[in-house]
Amino acid sequence: MSDRVIAIDGPAGSGKSSVARAVARDLGWSFLDTGAMYRAVTLEAVARGIDINDADAVAAIAESARLTTLPRVTVNGRDVEDEIRSDEINVAVSVVAANPRVRAAMVSRQRDLAAAQPLGTVVEGRDITTVVFPDASVKIFLTASLEERARRRGEEGEDSVARRDEADSTRAASPLRQADDAIVLDTTGRDVEDVAQEIVQWLKNNVSN
Ligand code: DC
Repeated sequence: MSDRVIAIDGPAGSGKSSVARAVARDLGWSFLDTGAMYRAVTLEAVARGIDINDADAVAAIAESARLTTLPRVTVNGRDVEDEIRSDEINVAVSVVAANPRVRAAMVSRQRDLAAAQPLGTVVEGRDITTVVFPDASVKIFLTASLEERARRRGEEGEDSVARRDEADSTRAASPLRQADDAIVLDTTGRDVEDVAQEIVQWLKNNVSN
């Protein structure tokens, strides 16, 4: 299955979503924003008044909620596309994403979603190259300077981005890390289309279909 997956990881604001979208559009493939899935689970827990530190209660939501990311992010039929980017969710999502049962439920859904696509899927997140699709056709690790990443994240601010990077990289369950065989691309000062072209070209040159 992973031969029809392009896996992209990297810290917040490294350009994952924009680049992944552009690559998917060029190839006619599907696109999966896995961060939106963790955010949607977090939002549903908060909306139900659940303590996000209650690991079992949050895991139960991750295991049972109906989730979509395309064409809009929804949870149990409710459109949460805008709400999942709030300051409250930026903080709470790190706790939810560190919950091993939540991660297991998300990984399983992500594999099922990719398997259901007729052509292929560009999947982006933090553990896609290392855990979800370690055998992907192309594995990319995007980086950029903290200053530029914070600028891209707009209102979230440098402190929040740095705090989330730290939490994502140091948690026990599937921390963000560069896979040994990932192609590392620094997107600082680079245009989305330029980075996307480099990835598409790499796929065409190295993967036979
Ligand atoms: O990509 P994003 O900023 O929307 O992701 C939100 C949070 O979700 C991020 O801080 C860490 C978590 N996440 C994760 O742990 N694993 C993924 N595959 C994707 C996101």
